[in-house]
Amino acid sequence: MRIGTLGNGLMAEALASGWVAAGHDVMVGGRSAERAAAVAGRVGAAAGSFAEAAVYGEVVLLAVPAEVAVSVAGVVPEGKTLIDCSNALDHRDFTLAQDSVAESIGAAVAPGVRVVKAFNLAADAVWRNPPAGLGVPLCGDDGVEQVAELVRDLGCTPVAAGGLRHAKLLEATAALAIGIWVRGGDVRGMFPPLADAFGTVLPGES
Ligand SMILES: NC(=O)c1ccc[n+]([C@@H]2O[C@H](COP(=O)([O-])OP(=O)(O)OC[C@H]3O[C@@H](n4cnc5c(N)ncnc54)[C@H](OP(=O)(O)O)[C@@H]3O)[C@@H](O)[C@H]2O)c1
Repeated sequence: MRIGTLGNGLMAEALASGWVAAGHDVMVGGRSAERAAAVAGRVGAAAGSFAEAAVYGEVVLLAVPAEVAVSVAGVVPEGKTLIDCSNALDHRDFTLAQDSVAESIGAAVAPGVRVVKAFNLAADAVWRNPPAGLGVPLCGDDGVEQVAELVRDLGCTPVAAGGLRHAKLLEATAALAIGIWVRGGDVRGMFPPLADAFGTVLPGES
């Protein structure tokens, strides 16, 4: 698959390196040609501007600060699948500085751009070397299967988490989890298999 990244920061580099390793063709797009080229060189990708990466990718990863996500997404042409991994975190108290970033992107992009929220729950360090089978929730109305393929290519497990209107829940979940983690809590033990909690085995569990 051809993948473009809008951004040459930590998330773009972490995910791009995994996708290149899985055999995909990636173009790292940046607002600075030098910074995009440096990241592209490290991961084995091509480099370009935001507009060039958006045209190049069948799937485009939007990896910029949430406050500029809607405007940067404006370069994505019709027919692409756009992954939004942003977290609009207010670092003062780990609430959300903006509601429903992914839905706002979906309302603003060119017609026919399929917006999928994904990869926002874990840190870039996790995406560099994800634990095998890590569950990755995906929220989107269309394009989810394409993104699910890219999740599997990282050795992770796609988890259908609803349509784009559910993306705000994923954004809030990330804020909650990051806040707990920063305060020294451990979110990993919060979701035991339901069989343990209720003595009931649900579909997909054994
Ligand atoms: N890092 C994580 O652990 C993590 C985890 C989950 C989700 N996220 C989310 O992923 C997104 C990217 O995070 P990151 O850690 O990769 O950030 P980062 O390392 O700071 O990289 C940000 C990227 O956005 C570009 N950028 C910054 N300000 C911009 C502006 N005003 N206009 C256009 N481009 C701009 C930067 O360009 P320059 O290089 O030219 O400055 C860079 O390419 C954020 O929304 C973040 O909330 C991050």
